[in-house]
Amino acid sequence: MNLNALKLTALVFFFFALSSPYKAKEITIKYLKKEVTLHSDKVDYPKLWKRIERKDPNSDEMLTYEGYDFNEIINKVFPNAVIEEIHTKAKDGYRLKIPKVTYLKKNHFLALKVQGKDKIYNKFFNTYFRWRPSYLLLDAKIASPYAVKSIELKETKLENPILLSASSETLPGAKVFVRSCAKCHSHKGFGGKKAPKMKYMIRRWKNKMEELPSFLRNPQEILKRKIQMSAFSGTEQELKDLLTYLKTI
Ligand code: HEC
Repeated sequence: MNLNALKLTALVFFFFALSSPYKAKEITIKYLKKEVTLHSDKVDYPKLWKRIERKDPNSDEMLTYEGYDFNEIINKVFPNAVIEEIHTKAKDGYRLKIPKVTYLKKNHFLALKVQGKDKIYNKFFNTYFRWRPSYLLLDAKIASPYAVKSIELKETKLENPILLSASSETLPGAKVFVRSCAKCHSHKGFGGKKAPKMKYMIRRWKNKMEELPSFLRNPQEILKRKIQMSAFSGTEQELKDLLTYLKTI
């Protein structure tokens, strides 16, 4: 989406958002079945809480927003998410899809408070509107506000050969592989080149697969040599799922 389209979207949206009497003081972020709520009346993640000043495109007023850097809060809330698209839902039901490439490039800001103001002047309608919490500033540099109610992180299967070829039984582990291993090891043409392909690595363990979990938890110590591999930090259930998947490689 180009800048003008964004501005137009924001404007159209602004009109609808302001005419609807939505009062919730929170925003939810969902990934798979887990949902996290961010509040505007208390700070859920103090270390990430930030303040930015931007010109409001509707009123030309400088406003001080408080909230989170979009990428930072998403990484914090769902550190292992495999995200292809971010779906946002506005307070009036308006939906926006932001592809991963776009949201990574832009510096979106999730504003949960605006300082010292509870009304914003809108020059197009020549009137004051009440500020409502949880605005997504699409690209924090230009600050076109979009009153967002919920965000869903979408994992798309289509582009990933690993997820696409997994069965319902191996899919959970395939996802763990994509999140935690594919940065370095590739499989089915998907993944990084920092380490050899997974199928060659797993061969070394074919006869002792039951020992693989302790290696993954502590690669350096188990191998007794230095390798550039990070220890697996997921849950026990994820490790179990991963093993189920690795056995099929
Ligand atoms: C940061 C990069 C990185 C990540 C992430 C990573 N690995 Fe590795 N892995 C390596 C490197 C480097 C080696 C050493 C390759 C060699 O022996 O030359 C290795 C080796 C291995 C080996 C073979 C060890 C042996 O017996 O020599 C296995 C099995 C393995 N990795 C599995 C995994 C699995 C499963 C995951 C995901 C939970 C994972 N790795 C995540 C970098 C990584």
